[in-house]
Amino acid sequence: MISPSVIAGDLSIMGETVASLDSSVVDLLHMDVMDGHFVPNITFGPGFIKSLASHSSIPLDIHLMIEKPENSLDDYLNLGPWCTVIHYESTSFPIRCLERIKKAGSKPGITLNPSTPVESLYDILPWCEMVLIMSVEPGFAGQSFMTPALRRIEKIKSFAVKNGLENLLIEVDGGINEENIKDVVSAGAEIAVAGSSAFRGGSVNENIINLKNAALR
Ligand code: DX5
Ligand code: ZN
Repeated sequence: MISPSVIAGDLSIMGETVASLDSSVVDLLHMDVMDGHFVPNITFGPGFIKSLASHSSIPLDIHLMIEKPENSLDDYLNLGPWCTVIHYESTSFPIRCLERIKKAGSKPGITLNPSTPVESLYDILPWCEMVLIMSVEPGFAGQSFMTPALRRIEKIKSFAVKNGLENLLIEVDGGINEENIKDVVSAGAEIAVAGSSAFRGGSVNENIINLKNAALR
């Protein structure tokens, strides 16, 4: 699956852009919520996502880069997202958050910065349906893919398979393009976020078809 990250496009016309996306090509809409505290950048909150979602039926993939997500989680869960991903580093209560996400009918996901050991997640994987491996430090679109992410995907995948968690989905986010997407999929990822590579110009639908073809090449 491919999940285009809207912050890499022109947000002032994103309603029209998402309305033009072909739901048989574009699997998810990746929403990067940044609060200026957990990450240095500020993007948007639930109001913007709600407006945007009214232009498309493509399911929402919400990536919360905010301090203490427990304080505003309901505002995002009320939007009915397909998955809701919180950062391991952003809260002392990840399990409580994951339980609330699941109870709201969204897939609970956890993510972690490239410098946080993947082993930190092992004990909370039973509460997760998805792990998002960051392949850049969170905060901005347009950064370069960090190759250690490949080893991190393999580690999580093999731990999950060995521990009866073979349904765990692995998503990867940051710097994914036609050159590296095959490596990401070969390492074990099911979902790739695409910011700059999806919104690099031309048709987003076409760009995503090209990414999918490159992944299967
Ligand atoms: C980074 C965000 C990513 C980013 C992806 O903090 O979580 O989703 O927008 O954009 P690219 O693909 O350009 O790295
Ligand atoms: Zn993201």
